[in-house]
Amino acid sequence: MRSMLLRKISIKELIFTKYKEKKMTCVTSSSSDIAAAATLLLEGKLVAFPTETVYGLGANALSEEASVRIYQVKGRPPTDPLICHVPDATDILGRLWDISTPENREVAEVGCALGAKFWPGPITFVGPASSLVAPCVTGGCGCVGVRIPDHPVALEFLKACGVPVAAPSANTFGHVSPTCAAHVMSDLAPRDSSLTVIDGGSSSIGIESTVVKLTHNGSAVQLEILRRGKIGVTELQRALKAVMREKSGDDNKQQFREALVTVRDTRSKFLGNMSAPMDGPGQLLTHYSPNVPSFLLTRSSISLLVQSSTSTTSGTTSRSGSVVAGEVRYPLSRAVLLDFEHRIVNAMGSSAPSSTPTPVAVSPTASGCPFAAESDNNTTHSSAQGIVLARMSLSDSGSLEEACQRVFEALRWVETIAGAEVAIFPLLSEWVPRVEANEQRGITEEAADAANELLAAVEDRLFRAASGVVARVEIS
Ligand code: TXA
Ligand code: MG
Repeated sequence: MRSMLLRKISIKELIFTKYKEKKMTCVTSSSSDIAAAATLLLEGKLVAFPTETVYGLGANALSEEASVRIYQVKGRPPTDPLICHVPDATDILGRLWDISTPENREVAEVGCALGAKFWPGPITFVGPASSLVAPCVTGGCGCVGVRIPDHPVALEFLKACGVPVAAPSANTFGHVSPTCAAHVMSDLAPRDSSLTVIDGGSSSIGIESTVVKLTHNGSAVQLEILRRGKIGVTELQRALKAVMREKSGDDNKQQFREALVTVRDTRSKFLGNMSAPMDGPGQLLTHYSPNVPSFLLTRSSISLLVQSSTSTTSGTTSRSGSVVAGEVRYPLSRAVLLDFEHRIVNAMGSSAPSSTPTPVAVSPTASGCPFAAESDNNTTHSSAQGIVLARMSLSDSGSLEEACQRVFEALRWVETIAGAEVAIFPLLSEWVPRVEANEQRGITEEAADAANELLAAVEDRLFRAASGVVARVEIS
């Protein structure tokens, strides 16, 4: 244990020494370091800071020159807009969102009323941009996303800055979003020697905010979820109805009946037509990609070509296999597997994989998550484990919150495995059945919706990391 601790410390020190040489600075979250970092941001430098979702790469959102650096350092297309981070709602109306027309004012007011229900928190509302926002921050789309993060270090830093801070996730364009300071340093130190990173530990949620665009259709404000996150469509729909009710005081008003939340479904669009044009920024199919060819697995992806396994004299099972993606065949012994509980590895070890998902025991009290751990079949688990090069479970206990918190860390871990030729991940909804509300078992509709939507948000990240491509696994 002690030697493991020493090893961890020395690896961290090595990373810090390596980046110190490149003059990039990683500072603590002490008040003096935060104040110094805010001064650097106001001088036009970039500062990466922790949030509850992922780390952001910040610049003064009122300065075109400073904000343009974000695009250069990330290698991000100039048409992909940035989110503005503020410590409170004081300056949103008029300063970030335009309120010069009645429709824009209504959109901005509904945005702020929704923000009052969710902020500080993991949700970004996109509304009409005021002319004070640096043009590059909007990517030329005329609207700007706003978020108040729920993280003490981020809030202290934003207060110290005193200006809105434009910040995308602090990774290189297309790579995995960072959930700790070391991730930021490994992506960005080689690209910006004057970058400062505030180390605030690991992000507690682990995936980026829900992004919601507000528009006006002439009679009512409409909401469209552009990116799924921890706050789901049902929760948002409930909040929108409450806001409309508070505004009109009457459920039968036209406005209330038209209150609508939709989800931009890029996934089915891509599956239907892989060459479909982008109809919005940041909607790329390929995102979060590790530097190893990556594929999704469904339950029916796995074929056991021999029904009974071959036992060696030591009693362990000897199996081999391939990951097959189109014309390309990779040895399974060179595959890195991200699992959920032990579902995939068990399916690989089972002599009769089922094409229907295993039912899960659902309990709202078990580990605070409606997905209770499935009983672990250790025999099949251990017999199949040796056939892949390396395996990590997003959650051993079947906790979706844990899978959410670990998914980006896990995608980066894939890149550290020497000799890896291919990575395989679960298409989660094929491995974990939907949670249904169940009064007798104390599962409310809200808990079921929240669980199903968190699963969709985590699945979205794995789906994009594998560019939506499903592979086959053949085991003999
Ligand atoms: O949790 C988060 O949202 C993190 C932390 C740092 O706050 N930020 C983040 O930013 O993930 P970024 O830039 O990596 O992702 C924001 C997404 C992009 O897909 C972008 O295209 C979209 O939100 N977005 C931002 N502003 C937009 C706008 N004005 N209109 C449409 N989409 C927008
Ligand atoms: Mg990003």
